[in-house]
Amino acid sequence: MRSDRSELPPEVAGAIEARSGPIHRFEPAPAGNHADISGTVHADGGRLFIKAARKIAPDRDGPEVRSLRWEAAINPHVTEYAPRLHWSVEAGGWLVLGFEHVEARHADYTPGSPDLDVLAKVIDGLQARRAPEVLEGKRVERRWEAFADVSALAGDTLLHADLNAANVLISDDGTVHVVDWTFTGRGAPFLEMALLIPWLMEAGHSPAAAEEWVSRFSAWTAADPDVITRFSRVFADKWQANHATNQAGWAAGLAARARRWADHRLPLFGADAAAGQSGSTDSPKYYSR
Ligand SMILES: Nc1ncnc2c1ncn2[C@@H]1O[C@H](COP(=O)(O)OP(=O)(O)OP(=O)(O)O)[C@@H](O)[C@H]1O
Ligand SMILES: [Mg+2]
Repeated sequence: MRSDRSELPPEVAGAIEARSGPIHRFEPAPAGNHADISGTVHADGGRLFIKAARKIAPDRDGPEVRSLRWEAAINPHVTEYAPRLHWSVEAGGWLVLGFEHVEARHADYTPGSPDLDVLAKVIDGLQARRAPEVLEGKRVERRWEAFADVSALAGDTLLHADLNAANVLISDDGTVHVVDWTFTGRGAPFLEMALLIPWLMEAGHSPAAAEEWVSRFSAWTAADPDVITRFSRVFADKWQANHATNQAGWAAGLAARARRWADHRLPLFGADAAAGQSGSTDSPKYYSR
């Protein structure tokens, strides 16, 4: 879809034009449901990728604006992966981020795809990194704290935490760009792989094949299998709860895949837990119900 600049709110268009000159065209992003506006701007000054969200009130950020603030905060720390953030500005109640535009396609996660090797290299690189200080208070495990004791999910590794195939962009020359750092934070290293499993499944991997793929990472093989199993259940429970209020097709798909993965792992767990009891052989410090 292509639009004229008039499709952009005037405050947003004005903020962009102050930096990049007159806008010729705006192309909404092919995927995206977090930022209120995301897409490519063609302007006198060249191409830019814009993400913008409106504040709830002059002194109050909504969730979309908060997400963009995290993207802006992490950007200088992950320049080897993320398109560069050229500028960020608040105008007329909007927060607008102007990123380098990259010419690239979404990664292909189907079984056997060479893009999976590219993804593996990205994950290896991220796993070697401690989360920067700016992410001190951004603990990924907090997403599930209303459902369980999440202490086993805490850690200091830098996690992207949303490596779905539309967030991993590959250029013709093989360069990889990782976008959408909204969910980034610190946490236990195996979480990066656990959060990837439903996306591998979406691309056609069975739960067993997805787990086999992630077992190339030492963080996965070193993690306590019971912690992973408990996580898979909490993850599925949260998506099930989310799906009750979010009827979007992608949420239904994710909820179903998460449950399929959790069901796949259940036989691998202590017998009591597999029967749905809370008394597993070790102390169940991380439980979904
Ligand atoms: N810098 C960029 N250059 C070119 N295309 C980009 C860039 N950043 C993102 N895109 C494209 O826009 C899509 C959406 O971007 P992104 O995931 O950052 O947005 P979002 O609004 O957070 O969406 P969602 O939360 O649904 O993933 C990407 O899948 C990619 O196709
Ligand atoms: Mg995205």
